[in-house]
Amino acid sequence: MTLRHCTLETDAEGIAWLTLDKADASANSLGSEMMQEADEVLRRLEAAPPKGLVIRSGKRSGFVAGADINEFTSLQSVEQAETLTRAGQAVIDRIEALPCPTVAAIEGFALGGGLELALACTYRVAVGNDRLTLGFPEVLLGIHPGFGGTVRSVQLIGAPAALDMMLTGRNIRGTKALTMGLVDRLVDSADQLADAARDIIRRRPAPRRAPFAQRLLSWGPVRPFIAKKVRAGIARKARQDHYPAPYAIVDLWQWYGAKGRAAYDAEAASIARLFLTPTSRNLVRVFFLQDALKSQRIAGSRTPQRVHVIGAGVMGGDIAAWCALRGLEVTLQDRAEEFIKPALARATALFEKRIKDPTKRGEAAARLRADLAGDGIATADVVIEAIVENAEAKRALYAKIEPQMQPGAVIATNTSSIRLEDLSSALATPGRLVGLHFFNPVAQMPLIEIVQGEATATESTGTAIALARRLDKFPLPCRSAPGFLVNRVLSAYMQEAMLAGREGVPLPVIDATAVDFGMAMGPVELSDVVGLDICRHVGGIVAGALGRPLPDTRELDERIAAGKLGKKSGEGFYLWRDGKPVKDAAAETAPFDLQDRLMLALANEAVACLREGVVADADKIDAGMIFGAGYPPFRGGPIKAARDRGVAECVQRLEALAAKYGPRFKPDPGWSLLG
Ligand code: NAI
Repeated sequence: MTLRHCTLETDAEGIAWLTLDKADASANSLGSEMMQEADEVLRRLEAAPPKGLVIRSGKRSGFVAGADINEFTSLQSVEQAETLTRAGQAVIDRIEALPCPTVAAIEGFALGGGLELALACTYRVAVGNDRLTLGFPEVLLGIHPGFGGTVRSVQLIGAPAALDMMLTGRNIRGTKALTMGLVDRLVDSADQLADAARDIIRRRPAPRRAPFAQRLLSWGPVRPFIAKKVRAGIARKARQDHYPAPYAIVDLWQWYGAKGRAAYDAEAASIARLFLTPTSRNLVRVFFLQDALKSQRIAGSRTPQRVHVIGAGVMGGDIAAWCALRGLEVTLQDRAEEFIKPALARATALFEKRIKDPTKRGEAAARLRADLAGDGIATADVVIEAIVENAEAKRALYAKIEPQMQPGAVIATNTSSIRLEDLSSALATPGRLVGLHFFNPVAQMPLIEIVQGEATATESTGTAIALARRLDKFPLPCRSAPGFLVNRVLSAYMQEAMLAGREGVPLPVIDATAVDFGMAMGPVELSDVVGLDICRHVGGIVAGALGRPLPDTRELDERIAAGKLGKKSGEGFYLWRDGKPVKDAAAETAPFDLQDRLMLALANEAVACLREGVVADADKIDAGMIFGAGYPPFRGGPIKAARDRGVAECVQRLEALAAKYGPRFKPDPGWSLLG
C-alpha cells in the first residue's frame, strides 16, 4: 500500500516516526483512508517492533482535528455505523497493544478522534502554548467519543474530569492539560517536541493513570450515586429526547465503569445508535451551515483594521468593546462624554472577563478610545452607526460625516428595522452604506445580519462580511426587507405569545411551551430581554412595511407608559431579580395547540422570507434562526423542522389554526416551494 496521508521513518536510534499529513487538506482528520493507512503502518510495526513510536502531525495547524465529519453523513444504518466505529477502535487498539513505548507529539489541537488516538499512546508530550487545545467536541454533534475515548479518558484523568470534558465539549488549553494529567510533558516550542518525545521513550517512566482517589469514584457500588447526580445536572440543561448523547455518556460510564472489552463494545454500539438519531443528523448539518457562514468572502475585500463607532449606547458601546477585544483600533463617539463613560466601564468589565493576561488586557483597553470630536472618522475603514432608531437622525448624521470619510470607507448601520434605501439617500455615494445588524447582547450573540440595500456596493458588502469574520461572528447576508430575517420571523412568534397571554394563558406557561419545543428562551422572557419598547417599535415597523394590520399593542403600551421596559428597567412582563425573571410556578398545563400556534407562526414567517428571497436559501434561514434567535439546533432550523414534520401536515395545521384564530395563520404561498 502506498501511503498518501502519512509517512513512516525510522531513525538511527530505532525510533519510528509516524507523521500524519492528510493529502489536500489543511488539517488532519481521521477519515477511513487515513485510518486504513495507519492500520497498515501499525501492522508493519507489529511485524518488526521499533524501539519506540512517535506519532506526530505534518501540519502546523495542529495534531488531529477529529474524525472526518463528512463521512458521518453517509452512514445509512446503525449496523454500518457500528462496523465503521469498531474498525476505527481496532486501529487505535493496535497502537495501545504495540510492545514498544508510544508517544503522541502534539502541537496545537488534538480534538475528538485525535485526542482518542493520543490517549491510546503510552505518553503524550505537547507544545504548551495557548494554541494547545485538547477536547472532545463530539457531544456538540450529538454523539460521544467512539474510538475508546469514553474508556481511556476516565482511566487517565478520572471520571469527574473526563465526564466533564465529554459532556460539555469544553476545550482544555495550555498548561491546564499538564495539571489535569492529559499530557505528560509540555515543552516551550515546536522545535523541542521531537527531543521531548525521544527522551521519554529512552527513560520510559511509568505511564500515568488516574490517582487512586479518582479511580475509587469509578468503583461499581459508587457509580450509580454519582451518575444520578450527573444526570440531574444534565437534565437541567437538556432533555434526553432532545439531546440523547450526554445521557448515553453517563450510561456508558455507569454500566461499564470504563473498564474492559465490554466498555469498548458498548461505546461502539452506543455511538452507532446516536449517529442515526435526527438530533445528530441535524447537529452535523448545523455544523456545516456554520462552516458555510464562516467561509463566506467576497473576492478582493479587505479586512478593516480601524473602526469608528458613533452612538455609545447599549449596542454601539458593546460593539466598540467587542471590536477592540478582537484586535481592531476603535474610536467611540457620542453626543457627550456622559454617554461614553458607561460604555467604557462595560468594556473594562468585558476585557477583564475575557482576557486573562494583564498586558494583553491593557492593550485591548488602549485600542478603544473615546472620541467626542469624531477625529477617528477620517481614518476609519468602517464607520459603524448605532445612534437612535430614527431615520431622520441617521440621515442627518450621514450627511455630516460623509465628507470627512476616506474614499472607499464604509458606513455600517446597526439599524434593526429601517430599510437601507430610506437612509442612503443622504449620501453622495450611497453604495458605501451597508447594514451590520448585531444582536443584543453583542458579546454572546454569534450572528450578524449583513444587510444589502438596493444601492449597496458589492465592495461594501465584502468589507462588512470581512469585518464580521474579523470579529469572529457569523455573517448572514440579507436583503434590506422589513425586519430583515431574524426580527421579522421572531416578531410573528412573539406576537402570537402576546395574543395567547391576552387570552389568559399564564405567561410562564407560554414560555415553558416554547422551551419544551427546544427554544433557548420563551417568547415572553425574550420580549423582556429585548426591551418592550424595542419590541413594540420593531413589531410596528415590520407590520406596517409588510402591509399587515398593526399588532394590538395595548399590553405593551401600558407597561411602557409605566416605565416597565423589561430586564433593563427591572420589570416588564416579569419582575427581574439578579438578572433572572421571577416566574410563578405555573401549575397549569398549556392548551394543546399552543406549541403549534407559536412554532407554526414562526415557521410560516420563515417560509415567507424564503419566498421573498430575504436571504439566499433555506439553509440561510435555518442558520439565521439558530444563531440569531436561539432556535433549537437539534431540530436543524425552522425550514428543516417543517420538512421533517411534513410540509403537507404543516400547511394543514396552519389552515386549521387560521379557521380557529384568524387569517394571520393563512399558510404562506411559499410552502409550495418546499415540496
Ligand atoms: P441607545 O439609545 O442605547 O443608544 C443610542 C446612543 O446614540 C445614545 O448614547 C445617544 O446619545 C447616541 N446618539 C444619538 N444621536 C447621536 C448623534 N447624532 N451623534 C452621536 N451619538 C448619538 O440605542 P441602542 O439600543 O444602542 O440602539 C442603537 C441602534 O442599534 C438603533 O438603530 C437600534 O435599532 C439598533 N439595535 C438595537 C438593539 C437593541 O437590542 N438595543 C439590537 C440591534 C440593533
